[in-house]
Amino acid sequence: PRQVERGAGGALTVAGLDVRELAAGYGTPAYILDEDDLRSRARDFRDAFPDVDVYYAGKAFLCRAVVRMIAEEGLHLDVCSGGELATALSAGMPAERIGFHGNNKSVAELTRALDTGVGRIILDSFTEIDRLTALARERGVRPGVLIRVTVGVEAHTHEFIATAHEDQKFGFSLAGGAAAAAAFRVIDEGVLDLRGLHSHIGSQIFDTSGFEVSARRVLALQAQIRDARGVELPELDLGGGFGIAYTTQDDPSTPAELAKRLRKIVDSECAAENLAVPHLSIEPGRAIVGPAVFTLYTVGTVKDVDGLRTYVSVDGGMSDNIRTALYDASYSATLAGRTSTAEPLLARVVGKHCESGDIVVKDEFLPADVQPGDLVAVPGTGAYCRSMASNYNHVPRPPVVAVRDGRARLIVRRETEEDLLALDVG
Ligand code: LLP
Repeated sequence: PRQVERGAGGALTVAGLDVRELAAGYGTPAYILDEDDLRSRARDFRDAFPDVDVYYAGKAFLCRAVVRMIAEEGLHLDVCSGGELATALSAGMPAERIGFHGNNKSVAELTRALDTGVGRIILDSFTEIDRLTALARERGVRPGVLIRVTVGVEAHTHEFIATAHEDQKFGFSLAGGAAAAAAFRVIDEGVLDLRGLHSHIGSQIFDTSGFEVSARRVLALQAQIRDARGVELPELDLGGGFGIAYTTQDDPSTPAELAKRLRKIVDSECAAENLAVPHLSIEPGRAIVGPAVFTLYTVGTVKDVDGLRTYVSVDGGMSDNIRTALYDASYSATLAGRTSTAEPLLARVVGKHCESGDIVVKDEFLPADVQPGDLVAVPGTGAYCRSMASNYNHVPRPPVVAVRDGRARLIVRRETEEDLLALDVG
C-alpha cells in the first residue's frame, strides 16, 4: 500500500491506522487492503487508457466490496466462473460491463450469462461455440462474443518466448488454423455477435515485447478474417498480465508507459494490415489489487536450526499465500509492530501447516530480537493470495480489512470453526 508509514513506537501505520490496533481489532493473520491505493491503481489504468475498456480480472481477488470499488472507478470486470459472476452481479456490477472467461464454462454458467445479459463471453473451444450457439438460438438472443486466440507467445515474467505452437489448454490455436476456423464458424452461423479477438499471454510480465508479437499475430488473423469473410471485427482484447514489484529487484512499467507502448504497437500493425484500429480492452488483475494489500501475521515461534537459518513461524502460511510454495514466488517481510536496532538476521518466514514447503518468505533479514508476539507484515499479497486460499489443516481463512482515511472496515470476515464444520454431513 502507498499509505504505509512508521508511526509512534515505530509501528507501521496504514491510512493513518496503527497495525497494532488492526491486529487487536481483527486478529491475525489478516489481509489489510489500502482502499485508496486500490482505487488509485484502478484510476491510473482508467486515465492511462481513456478510450479502452479496462476489465479488472476478478480472479486476482474478488469480493462484493471490491466489485463496488471497481465499478465506481469506471472499470469493467472479468469473471471466469459462475461463482465470480454471482459475486459480481450480487454487488451490482452492470452485466454489460462483465466479460466471462473460462475454458470449460458449463451449460448452467452460459445460461446464466445469457439470461443476465453479460456483455462479452470469451469463446474458448468449438464445443463451447456450439453450446452457446444452441443456447442463444433457443432464447432468441445475440450475445457479444470474443474468440480467445492462442498466439504462440509464452510470457511469464521478465522474458517471453515466441513459438509457432503453444501447448496449453486455453483458446484456439493460431498456428494450427483453429482460431480462423472458429471465427468462420461463428460468423457463418450468424447467431452470436462476434465482436473481436482476444489474447492473453501470461501473468507477471515485465517484457512488453511479448504483447508486441501477440498483437501482430492477432491483427494478422483479423486481416485474414476480413479478407475471407469481408468482416472487420470492431474490438480487440489484449488480456492482462502486467507485472508488479514483489521485491526491490522488480521494475514494472506504469500504466501510462504500457498504454503508450500498446497503442503504438496496435496503430502500426493496423496500418501495416490496412485495418481500422479496433476498440481495445485490457484485463489487469494483479497490477490493480496486488500492491494494495499486505498480510499481517503474528510470530508464534522462532527457531534457530543448527546455526544455518532462523525459522520465524507465523500464524498463517500456505493456506493464505500458496504462491511461494506453488511458484517459488518472492516476497519480503518486515517487522510491523515496532522497530528494532538489533543486528539483521537471515530468516525464513514459515507458516503453521504440516509440511516443510510451507514457506511464506524464503529469505529475509529480520532484526535478531524478533520474538513471539511480534507482528510481521508481508506486502504485495493482494493478488492470488486470498483468492487461492485454502482450508488446509482446517485453518480458517483470514479476513480482509479495508482501511481508508483513518477508518477500518471488514469486507470479508474471518472464517470460523463453525464455517469449517458447516459442510460436514453427519
Ligand atoms: N485475463 C485472462 C484471460 C487471464 O487468464 C488472467 C490471469 C488475467 C486476465 C489477469 O492476469 P493478471 O493481470 O492478474 O496477471 N495464480 C497465478 C496467476 C494466474 C493468472 C491467471 N490468469 C499467480 O498467482 O501468479
